[in-house]
Amino acid sequence: MMKLQDAFNVINVRNQIELPQIVVVGSQSTGKSSVLESIVGRDFLPRGSGIVTRCPLVLQLRRVMPQELIKKQNQNGTEGISASNNTEYGEFLHRKGEKYFDFAKIRTEIEEQTNRIAGSDKNISDEPISLTIYSPNVVDLTLVDLPGITKVPIRGQPQDIEEQIKRITYKYILQQNSLILALTAANTDLANSDALKMAREVDPEGERTIGVVTKIDLMDQGTDALDLLQGKIYNLKLGYYGVKCRSQKQIDQNISIRDAIKNEREFFSTHPIYQNHSDRLGVGFLSESLNRILCTHIIKCIPQLSRQINELLQSKEMDLVQLEMNSISIDGDKGPIVLNLINKFTQTYGDMIEGKFVKESA
Ligand code: GDP
Ligand code: NA
Ligand code: MG
Repeated sequence: MMKLQDAFNVINVRNQIELPQIVVVGSQSTGKSSVLESIVGRDFLPRGSGIVTRCPLVLQLRRVMPQELIKKQNQNGTEGISASNNTEYGEFLHRKGEKYFDFAKIRTEIEEQTNRIAGSDKNISDEPISLTIYSPNVVDLTLVDLPGITKVPIRGQPQDIEEQIKRITYKYILQQNSLILALTAANTDLANSDALKMAREVDPEGERTIGVVTKIDLMDQGTDALDLLQGKIYNLKLGYYGVKCRSQKQIDQNISIRDAIKNEREFFSTHPIYQNHSDRLGVGFLSESLNRILCTHIIKCIPQLSRQINELLQSKEMDLVQLEMNSISIDGDKGPIVLNLINKFTQTYGDMIEGKFVKESA
């Protein structure tokens, strides 16, 4: 799937075809950045109170084995960097060819590119930042982080900030190919969940909405999220996943993501209520499930993708006819490549579902 997406990036049809992806939606401070960082297993997202994410971040996670990474580094003539310390790196679409081994620098570049795109004020933009993370510690996923839904404009923000954010969110979640990761904090009322409200509007049958309940550790004593997680309050076909990420205090204390994930596992496996369900709780289970759900979803999307590609090709042909060009243009050349890719992709995925996946989850 990642190969396909890269190919689409290179041949520049990305914006014209809706590729399957997971879109993270939720009110400000529900824990979107925390969940994304936990899935990646690294600190790299800008954070802070208030509106930090001001444009979409399209985040591709790509699993690579350490040897492959080392080979890549050598091929690119960067032997100067000790490979053993650098098994993970990020690369931005707007800075192609530049590898970021330092995740703090990834964060800085996201911040700077956000300022370039949306201005240094509190404004937002729908122009995405595209980042790929190569790592042996991730599963292949494409995630989209969006500005959090906010009600009240703060100083320097336009009056219609809520509408603007919702417009950007709809742009992504309206795509039938998008899975919606709808975040709700456990210490807030589910009935007021912006994420579930918006998801329901575009996906009334709940076919492509995945519920995530964050901040489970912050619930009132004597209450728990079991009914919610089991879909007894509002059912979602793809279910709910409970997570516990770092509190602000733990972040300030520089608790690493790795330790935070250990803490989370311990929290669930020793909790009087959650311990019987702990193998289905936590960020590890969430990311494995996301990968599996996305694969199934992609298989479902293939007919639609093929249709879109055919339409695109036809319109390109029309362009050619209109231009009365006899020779094949660069654009025209791309057609068979795309079709071949779809074919390869179907085969690869077929194999994956039959083999690797079943093996992994067995
Ligand atoms: P975002 O605005 O949706 O991206 O939310 P953030 O990920 O930035 O989180 C907002 C605040 O909530 C931060 O201070 C986090 O440390 C805190 N937070 C996020 N998830 C949890 C959680 O599961 N438990 C606790 N106690 N705090 C959390
Ligand atoms: Na925030
Ligand atoms: Mg955020």
